[in-house]
Amino acid sequence: MTPTPVLDTRGYSFWYGATQALHDVTCLIPRRAVTALIGPSGCGKTTFLRSINRLHDLTPGTRHTGDILLEGVSVFAPGTDTVGLRRRVGMVFQRPNPFPKPVYDNVAYGPRLNALCASRELPDRVERALRQAALWDEVRDRLREPGTACRAGSSSGCASRGRSRTSLTCS
Ligand SMILES: Nc1ncnc2c1ncn2[C@@H]1O[C@H](COP(=O)(O)OP(=O)(O)OP(=O)(O)O)[C@@H](O)[C@H]1O
Ligand SMILES: [Mg+2]
Repeated sequence: MTPTPVLDTRGYSFWYGATQALHDVTCLIPRRAVTALIGPSGCGKTTFLRSINRLHDLTPGTRHTGDILLEGVSVFAPGTDTVGLRRRVGMVFQRPNPFPKPVYDNVAYGPRLNALCASRELPDRVERALRQAALWDEVRDRLREPGTACRAGSSSGCASRGRSRTSLTCS
């Protein structure tokens, strides 16, 4: 039996106001595989990715036709918990988008929100995450400074690792 694809896009079109950005997209994304969307700038890669976790809900004047099913269920189904959907469908943006909070709180945000560890374990978790991103040496003495000071285009690891790429993870 063929396993259900994790994502099933059916005749999906998308508009920013009068501008149509996606035209009748139909594709299956298999589970437990790395899938790349490749195309020229402006062809709609990010628009498609943002559709999957309904980030366009926050953009006035947008609309769509067609459907996107995550594990067999439409992400547009009435009553969909969009916060829960965005927990399952994560997105790594081309540019870093730090919250207007200290560096430490930016990194601790996810584990805190999801109660992933006891508060006494949080400092170790933050350090581990920053080491894994090769940012620890750069920010270890700046953990209380605003995360927004970490700008794209600077020599910071945030920027150099934020190459022109948007990716998506489904859990
Ligand atoms: N917020 C917006 N309002 C209006 N038009 C938009 C908006 N965002 C994107 N577009 C337009 O939609 C089309 C698709 O853009 P999109 O950003 O999805 O392309 P992309 O393939 O991700 O490009 P890139 O490779 O440069 O990241 C483009 O014509 C773009 O100008
Ligand atoms: Mg893009």
